[in-house]
Amino acid sequence: MASITIRNLDESTKQALRERAAQNGRSMEEEARLLLAELEQGSPGLTAGIVEHKSTDYPAIPVAAAGSSSEPPIAGFPAAGKCVLLIISGGIAAYKSLDLIRRLRERGVHVRAVMTAAAQQFITPLSVGALTADKVFTDLFDREDEQDVGHIRLARNCDLIVVAPATADLMAKMANGLANDLASTVLLATNRPVLIAPAMNPAMWSHRATRRNAETLRRDGIHFIGPMAGEMAESGEAGEGRMAEPMQIVERIGELLDTRPKPLRGKRAIVTSGPTHEPIDPVRYIANRSSGKQGHAIAAALAELGAEVILVSGPVSIPDPRDCEVVRVESAREMQRMVEAALPADIAVMVAAVADWRSKGEATEKMKKEGGKGPSHLELTENPDILKGLGHHKQRPGLLIGFAAETEKIVEHAQAKLERKKADWIVANDVSPDSGIGDAGGVMGGDRNRVRILSRDGVEEWPELTKKQVAERLAARICDHLAATTTIA
Ligand code: CTP
Repeated sequence: MASITIRNLDESTKQALRERAAQNGRSMEEEARLLLAELEQGSPGLTAGIVEHKSTDYPAIPVAAAGSSSEPPIAGFPAAGKCVLLIISGGIAAYKSLDLIRRLRERGVHVRAVMTAAAQQFITPLSVGALTADKVFTDLFDREDEQDVGHIRLARNCDLIVVAPATADLMAKMANGLANDLASTVLLATNRPVLIAPAMNPAMWSHRATRRNAETLRRDGIHFIGPMAGEMAESGEAGEGRMAEPMQIVERIGELLDTRPKPLRGKRAIVTSGPTHEPIDPVRYIANRSSGKQGHAIAAALAELGAEVILVSGPVSIPDPRDCEVVRVESAREMQRMVEAALPADIAVMVAAVADWRSKGEATEKMKKEGGKGPSHLELTENPDILKGLGHHKQRPGLLIGFAAETEKIVEHAQAKLERKKADWIVANDVSPDSGIGDAGGVMGGDRNRVRILSRDGVEEWPELTKKQVAERLAARICDHLAATTTIA
C-alpha cells in the first residue's frame, strides 16, 4: 500500500486534508489512509473535495465552497461570489460564528477568518479553518504572512469585514483606534465597510462606556446588527446583549453587499395583502382563507427592486417582508382609509382578499343564543371597494393592478373587473380548492399560483409557479412597463 508523510505535504494540501477530516469526523491520519486505499482501488471521486489553496494570495472561491462537495450553493444570494473577512473575538457566542461561516459558504460567499487570542479560548482555529477551507489568521507578527505586510492585504482584500461576535473590549479598541493585535490592526487599516454583531452581558452593553463606544462607532459609519434581547448563557441573566442569529447576520451581509440594479428606486408602491376581518360582535368576525403569502411576496419583490413600499395588510400569521413599511389593519373600511392615506403612489397592487360584506350594525355585546334559538339571520351590508375607489380617485396611482380571485369563467369575470374597477391590469387566479394548483387545498393558503395577466392589450398566461416567483415576475413586468412608458424630458 502507498504511504505519505502528512508532515511533508505542502500547506495547501494539508489544509484540504484537514478540512475533509473535520467534515468526516476523522483524524487527518485516518482520512489520509482512507484516501490512499480508495485511490489504490481506482476511485477518483474521493479526491474531489481536495482543492487548491494558496494561503497568501487572495483565493478564488474554492471548489468546495458549498460546504460539502455534494451540495450545490444556495442560488440567488446577493453576496454570492463576494469575500467576507470574519473577525471572531472572544465571547461565548463565538460558537455561532462556525454556523455563520457554513451558511455564508452555502451561499457562495468566500470567508476568511481572523481570530483574537480570546476567541481561541472558545473555539479552535482548526474548526474555523476546516469550515472556511482557508488559513485562519491569528497573529500580527506571523513571520510568513508579515514579510509583505499581510495585515494590510487582509484588511483590504475583501468586500466586507464582519466582526461576530464583537466583544465590549474589541468595540472599545475600535472606537479608540487601538491596534495591538491582528484583529484591531486590520480594523484600523481597512478601507472596507465593517459590520459588527455585538455580544456581551446586558450590564456590559448598557454600561455608559459601551454606549459611548457604540455611538462613536455608529458615527464612524460602522454597521451594527443586534445585539438582541433574550436569555444569556450565564444562568439567570437576561436582557439586551445576545448576538444576532447567524441567519440574521447572513441577511444583513446580503443587504450590504447587494449591488444588483434597483430600477424602482424613487418609485412609491402601495400593496394590500391578506384577508380582512369584519366584526359581528366583540368576539366573532367574518373572514376568508387568504394567507397573505402572495401579497407579502409582491411587496418584498418590489422593495427588492428599490421601490418604497407601503404594505397595508389584514391579519396574517406570516412575517413582515423586509424593507417595507407595514400598516396593520383589521377591516375593509380601515384598509381603505390606510390605502388612501398612503397616496400618492406610482404603483398600487391590490392583492388583499377584501371581505365583500360586513355585518350591519356591529353588536357591542356578545350575541347570545337566547334559549338555544340564536339569531335566525345575520344582516349584511356591502363593504367599500378599495380597488374601484382607487381607479376613480383624483390621485389614481400611475399603474393600478388588481387581483381577481375566481372559481369559474376566470377570464370573463376578470375582464369585467378590469373595466368596472378601472384597473390597468388584473392578475386572475383560480382559487377553487380543486384547481389542481400546488398541494391539496389550492391557491388560498398554499405556496403556488397560476395566474393570467389581463390588460387592455390582451391576456398573458403564466405557468404554475411559486408565489415568490409570481411576485418576482410581476415586479419585473412592472419595471418593464414603467421603463417603456416613462418619457424623458
Ligand atoms: N377588492 C377591493 N375591495 C373590495 C373587494 C375587492 O379592493 N371590497 C379588490 C381586491 O383586492 C382585488 C380585486 O378587487 O384586487 C378583485 O377582488 P375579488 O375578491 O376577486 O372580486 P370582487 O370585487 O370582490 O368581486 P366578486 O367577489 O364578486 O368576485
